[in-house]
Amino acid sequence: MKREIIIYYSRNKENYCSGIIKNLEIGNTKKVANLIKDYLHIDSFEINMVEPYSDDYSKCINEAREDKCNKHYPKYINDINLDDYDVIYLGYPNYWGTCPMVVFSFLKNHDLTNKEIRPFVTHEGGFFGRSLDDIKEIAPKAIIKNGLELLGSKVDLLHDEIIDWVNK
Ligand SMILES: Cc1cc2nc3c(=O)[nH]c(=O)nc-3n(C[C@H](O)[C@H](O)[C@H](O)COP(=O)(O)O)c2cc1C
Repeated sequence: MKREIIIYYSRNKENYCSGIIKNLEIGNTKKVANLIKDYLHIDSFEINMVEPYSDDYSKCINEAREDKCNKHYPKYINDINLDDYDVIYLGYPNYWGTCPMVVFSFLKNHDLTNKEIRPFVTHEGGFFGRSLDDIKEIAPKAIIKNGLELLGSKVDLLHDEIIDWVNK
């Protein structure tokens, strides 16, 4: 049997949802990761930055853009051995049209040869953006399967869609 794991990055605190700034207790992507975890009863690993972006939305936007422009790969706390896993549910928010840079830090640190990646993104209109191409460039030997795009501010209403995708 294939062994599966959920790897994700998500940020709580201030976020911009459907036109207003909201203080999120749990980030949108984490909500999806938690739902998949509870449904499949599989392991998960949250990518937490050593130096997290600001709780303040505007500052966070700028910090994330700077990391992207400077091709800076932020460090994250702890790590996980992926040898025992065949399938990775990879979840992240769309940041500036692609993955948050720390997700690329994680991918760069692992040999993903022949690993099946099932990507899911939460976004506010940009869908996957260029993230799938960027993941393929960093992990060319991974097998990228059909992904799931979710409007971040609506994830609470999309449980059926998420479970349907998991079961495909
Ligand atoms: C730094 C930053 C950059 C973002 N850039 C985009 C973007 O380019 N396109 C988009 O659709 N949404 C963008 N968003 C919105 C997030 O993708 C969306 O709110 C997501 O659901 C946040 O997930 P999280 O709560 O798990 O962190 C951005 C949000 C942040 C904080």
